[in-house]
Amino acid sequence: MVTPAIQIVLTEPELKLLQTLVYQECGMYFDERRVHFLQDRLQRRLKATGLDSFYSYYRLLTSREGKSELAALLENLTVNETSFFRNKPQLELFQKTILEEILHRKQARRDWTLRFWSAGCSTGQEPYTAAMQICDALAYYYLRNPLPFEMPSPKPLIPPPWKVEILASDISYSVLRAAQEGMYPEHHMESVDYAYRLRYFDKMGDRYAIKKGVKELVHFDFHNLKTEFLPQRNDVIFCRNVMIYFDEAEQKRLIDKFYRCLNPEGYLFIGHAESLFGLSDKFKMIHLNNGTAYQRIEA
Ligand SMILES: C[S@@+](CC[C@H](N)C(=O)[O-])C[C@H]1O[C@@H](n2cnc3c(N)ncnc32)[C@H](O)[C@@H]1O
Repeated sequence: MVTPAIQIVLTEPELKLLQTLVYQECGMYFDERRVHFLQDRLQRRLKATGLDSFYSYYRLLTSREGKSELAALLENLTVNETSFFRNKPQLELFQKTILEEILHRKQARRDWTLRFWSAGCSTGQEPYTAAMQICDALAYYYLRNPLPFEMPSPKPLIPPPWKVEILASDISYSVLRAAQEGMYPEHHMESVDYAYRLRYFDKMGDRYAIKKGVKELVHFDFHNLKTEFLPQRNDVIFCRNVMIYFDEAEQKRLIDKFYRCLNPEGYLFIGHAESLFGLSDKFKMIHLNNGTAYQRIEA
């Protein structure tokens, strides 16, 4: 006979305290539709710590010694669903129209640096997809706009004098570790077509490893989007399927921060189910062939 696990009661006031703490720490808001998920994860973490009440757990989280437990709780509350080439119409818009515009604009100014930030990168499929797309876009751009710089041999992924910096950040250390490893099983590769697999992956046993050259373009780091200290001077920010877990006030604050983190005329890409409508008038919407992006409006 299996003895049912004894659950410690989570009272309404305790739930409110913990809900508010999570919101203040990372911006995630658990409304009635998602509160069960929060309750479930809190039960699991309480059990893991061996504490006997949620109030004691709250006290731990807000203490100096509780920093690592707070990180563990936040990590347990994130939804990390992602995939390579997610939202193809939007990626087409990014690669064929927006990158082309940025490269032309930058070349005219002799500015050869392209900065891309994947905010909420999960296990890395998004920044690696962007890296592959940028490599291809630059090679194609170079073909049509050759520059008087000697091309080293073998041909590098990024033709000189261009420099590409791809930053990928998340609040969860475990997804960042997986992203950094850059190894994916077959079932994560369904959306990666034949040509991309051949050029940008090595098959290692039953997994696909991102090739070293692509990996070296991407720098992974911890950033909590709730804080004010976020990476600046980006030409493009992808923050897709992250804001849906925030409430409206937090979404507005985040979009304002993204405005400041972008270079003039920079672009913001958000998820398919997200929109800036009613949240900000500082961006111009670009919609082409079912793909959407937002460009910073200059005052
Ligand atoms: C659903 S995944 C989206 C992954 C990828 N952007 C995509 O669209 O495929 C959301 C990611 O946002 C991260 N996240 C949630 N809140 C965050 C915060 N406050 N700061 C940074 N990352 C956060 C989660 O850890 C998770 O990996």
